[in-house]
Amino acid sequence: MSGRDALIQQHRLPEPLYVTRPALPSLEAYTERLRPVWEKRWLANAGDAHQELEQRIAAFHGVEHASLFCNGTIAMLVGIQSLGIASGEVVTTPFTFPATTHTLFWNRLTPVFCDIKPDDYTMDPAKLERSITRETRAILPVHVYGGLCDMDGIEAIAKRHGLPVLYDAAHIFGVRDVNGPPLARGDVSVLSFHATKVFTTAEGGAVIARDAALKRRIDLLKNFGIAGEEQVLSPGINGKMSELNATLGLLNLDGVEAELEGRRAVLRRYRERLTGERGLTLLSEHRGITPNGAYMPVRIDAAAFGRSRDEVHETMRACNVITRKYFFPLCSHFDFYRDLPSARPENLPEAERAAREVLCLPIYGALELPLVDRVCDLLLALRG
Ligand SMILES: Cc1ncc(COP(=O)(O)O)c(C=O)c1O
Repeated sequence: MSGRDALIQQHRLPEPLYVTRPALPSLEAYTERLRPVWEKRWLANAGDAHQELEQRIAAFHGVEHASLFCNGTIAMLVGIQSLGIASGEVVTTPFTFPATTHTLFWNRLTPVFCDIKPDDYTMDPAKLERSITRETRAILPVHVYGGLCDMDGIEAIAKRHGLPVLYDAAHIFGVRDVNGPPLARGDVSVLSFHATKVFTTAEGGAVIARDAALKRRIDLLKNFGIAGEEQVLSPGINGKMSELNATLGLLNLDGVEAELEGRRAVLRRYRERLTGERGLTLLSEHRGITPNGAYMPVRIDAAAFGRSRDEVHETMRACNVITRKYFFPLCSHFDFYRDLPSARPENLPEAERAAREVLCLPIYGALELPLVDRVCDLLLALRG
């Protein structure tokens, strides 16, 4: 038997352990909570559950102007539209989920890729200014894995150039910052409530707007631009969240503190086990930030670890530990973006390296710590 086969035999889990698992209320609680929806027969269009969830999401994050959506991607499409950016360039990063870049494309805007910082994978303000041209209309940074962008650095540059800032905040539900609510920053921030996220409505999302007037525009745009029975004010889209999703959201919001606490315990255990291990680097922690444990990225330096990220990924999979290579490929690798001048690998050395080296390990609130230990044992056993 080869060394790899023996290792797989020793460490293989009986069942697949996925990178995440959604927290769910009991089916009984869900059906009970749906009763008023059934009785009223009001399934969509800002029903009672939608209204309540919208207010509670805003209050939970210490912001005033939240608008619920059917998913984070449509939320971002509308967020961009709401700022009236009709053409030109938007500076963003390639180390993200495809939706970030695609929403620019769908708005006929040209993405300009800026490199990331090596310690937390977010937009590097030191490299931002060189991406700004006379065609730049906005900046779209991404809060990656639950870590926050250098918002002060980015916003200072945006202010100097008179540019709005839209944050892709899909990963930061529940992240706290002693300096104030992260979602209150910029012109809009966009959350995702997809099934893979810390807080889920199955599919869903929200735009957090900087003021009431912008929220009104967003609410109009997400409902076809309809302002009244006989009045359509703008060419909007259907971005509404249904009552079924909003009801699931209400129940999940009741349990979200427990989910966050569970994730933080898992995060702590990973940190205890993996910090300082040769060849591995964990996401840097920032003072004053309470993390949400959305993801557990680990950077694997192939030379120091003795095995590449891809080898680790494949062997862990063979052991039923289903890790994910978020974010490989980079958005700048996709055929339809790779010819952009800013997509050249030499423009994006840190993003290219992160795409080669980062692996996301399983994390969710109900993940038991002995299982976390088994993942860590396996990872460390793989070291060459
Ligand atoms: C960084 C990022 N942006 C945007 C999205 C899109 O959100 P949704 O799936 O809710 O459309 C996701 C995830 O799904 C994401 O991870």
